[in-house]
Amino acid sequence: MSTPDLSRIIGKIEDLPTLPRTVLKITELVNNPKSSAKDIARIITDDQVLTARLLKLVNSSFYGFPQRISTVTGAIVLLGFDAIRNLLLTTSVFEMFTNSKKASKLNQEKYWDHSLGCAVGAKVIGNALRHDKIEELFVSALLHDIGKIVEMMFLPKKFSRITAYVNRKRTLMRVAEETLLGYTHAEIGKWLAERWNLPPKLISIIAHHHQPSAAGQFTLEAAIVHLADIFCRALNIGSGGDDKIPPLDVFAWESLKIKTQAIEPIMQEIKKDFDDISMFITYTP
Ligand SMILES: [Fe+2]
Ligand SMILES: [Fe+2]
Repeated sequence: MSTPDLSRIIGKIEDLPTLPRTVLKITELVNNPKSSAKDIARIITDDQVLTARLLKLVNSSFYGFPQRISTVTGAIVLLGFDAIRNLLLTTSVFEMFTNSKKASKLNQEKYWDHSLGCAVGAKVIGNALRHDKIEELFVSALLHDIGKIVEMMFLPKKFSRITAYVNRKRTLMRVAEETLLGYTHAEIGKWLAERWNLPPKLISIIAHHHQPSAAGQFTLEAAIVHLADIFCRALNIGSGGDDKIPPLDVFAWESLKIKTQAIEPIMQEIKKDFDDISMFITYTP
C-alpha cells in the first residue's frame, strides 16, 4: 500500500505521542557543539522527577560504576552528552508506556518487557562485538517496536483486530498488520521517529529491524537489534504481540560474524542483565 494511505490513517491520530520538552531541549543542546555539561545539567535539574530517575538509573547495575554518582553534572561528565540524551529518551519512552490509559495494562507490561529485553540484548550483543556506541544501540532497541505502541494507544480498534488476527492465524504481528492495515509497525515507528527528529541512524534501525540488510550504512546496528529481538523471543522475555520467533535475516546474521559457541553465553547474559535492570525500571501501572 502506498504512503498516502499511511499518512491518511495516521493523520487521524489527534493525540500524537510527544517527547517531553526537556528531552527535546536536551537533544537540541547535545546537537550544539557549543553546549557545556553545565547547560545540560541546568535543564535536567529544573525537572525534579527527571533528575531522580536519571540518578537512579545511572547508579543501577546496568552502568556498573563503582562509585555513587550523586549529581547530574557528575552523571553527564561520566556518561557523555549522547548517553545522557539516550538515557532521558529511555525514561520518556517508559513514561509513554506507563501513562497510557487507553490500552490494557497487561499488554503494555509485556510490550515494555519486550522492548527493555531487546535494549539489554542489543547492549550485550554490542559489547560482544566491541561496538563503540552501546547506549545508542540500547535506545534503538528500546524504540524498535514503538509503532506497536502507537497502534495500541492511538488506533485501538485496528489494534484489537490485528491481535485477534494474530491469535486466529497464529502468525506474526507484522503479517497481520500488512493484511489489515497495509503497513507495519516498522513504518509507523519510522514515521514517529522522524516526527521526533531522532538521528537518522535511529530512524533507520527502527524502520529496518525486520530486514536489517535493507538499512544501508546502518546495517550492522539494525542487525544487532534484529538479533536482540529474536533472542528475547527465544528467552521468553515479555511479548512482541505474537508468540512466533521472526525469521532471521541470514545476510545480517553472517555480517555480525558471531561464533555459534558465543550464542549461549550471550543469551545467558541477556537474561541476567534483564533481571538486574528491570529491578530499577519497574513497571508500575
Ligand atoms: Fe518488530
Ligand atoms: Fe520486537
